[in-house]
Amino acid sequence: MTADRHSIEQAVRLIVEGRLVAFPTETVYGLGADATNGRAVAGIYEAKGRPRFNPLIAHLASFDLARGQGRFSPAAERLAKAFWPGPLTLVVPKSPGCTVSEIATAGLDSVALRVPDHVVAQAILAAVGRPVAAPSANRSGHVSATTAAHVAADLDGRIAAIVDGGATPVGVESTILACLEDRVAMLRPGGLSREAVEAVLGFPLAEGPEGAADEPLAPGMLASHYAPKASVRLDAQSAGPTEAWLGFGGRGDGSKARVAADLSPAGDLTEAAANLFGMLRALDRPDISAIAVAPIPPRGLGEAIRDRLARAAAER
Ligand code: TXA
Ligand code: MG
Repeated sequence: MTADRHSIEQAVRLIVEGRLVAFPTETVYGLGADATNGRAVAGIYEAKGRPRFNPLIAHLASFDLARGQGRFSPAAERLAKAFWPGPLTLVVPKSPGCTVSEIATAGLDSVALRVPDHVVAQAILAAVGRPVAAPSANRSGHVSATTAAHVAADLDGRIAAIVDGGATPVGVESTILACLEDRVAMLRPGGLSREAVEAVLGFPLAEGPEGAADEPLAPGMLASHYAPKASVRLDAQSAGPTEAWLGFGGRGDGSKARVAADLSPAGDLTEAAANLFGMLRALDRPDISAIAVAPIPPRGLGEAIRDRLARAAAER
């Protein structure tokens, strides 16, 4: 499904005017604002109820446009050429000509850039012609929205418009890689697998923040960031009668659960990623004591799925 031309034109007009518009990307819905407009960007934090300023990803229509915002090392350039447009965010040093507002970069010397692979996002970004800051379009602390209905449930009345482009195909957020020195570090596993990245790089990824930075490099990665209201039990073998069961590929036993869903009966991790946030929302009911989740293998998109579930399971 693609959005109609009128709603795309309206979205472009609103973003240029400094308003907030939710739109689909291939990963999750983004809550977009003109990244060069500090007031518009501040509005994102307010609408989401984010307690503090976390740096945001600036979205652009092409690598050529992204180049104007950041300095790409040879490795960063190889990754951009291999995977953009796609579910990859590159954190690179700001270029002198970077127009992304200090509020969007939270005062860091680096900027997070992404070229999404979705016809609606592409149409909006190409017409806006400026970087568009867009965090996931959910209230702070909720799981990300993968349909327009999920966006509306969280943000209706707080934002100017929602462009409905159907369910987002990837379903988990982009993989974030920092390319700040000569190494490449994984800041967040996501919709592009580690294996695919390492195959292009020809060397293994470094883990987490580099050097002795005093600030965390992906400050948005708070432990409980992706939490549903119910508690989450990982690597469960079965579910009790007051629990919900989130299965995968026929592993474990969900037969006694009050309610059950299966991320992918066939055991396909790509399908599981696409279903993850929608199923967490559906199972997150007041009559559920916990969501028990079957074991998910840690390879491919399983790394991102396990990361989001671990955050959902974290103490809060
Ligand atoms: O798939 C996605 O990435 C979605 C869609 C809408 O593009 N966006 C998304 O944005 O997930 P958000 O704001 O939920 O997550 C952005 C993450 C945060 O953890 C933030 O801390 C990190 O990116 N980040 C942004 N700029 C950074 C920077 N300069 N250095 C380190 N981390 C940064
Ligand atoms: Mg988010």
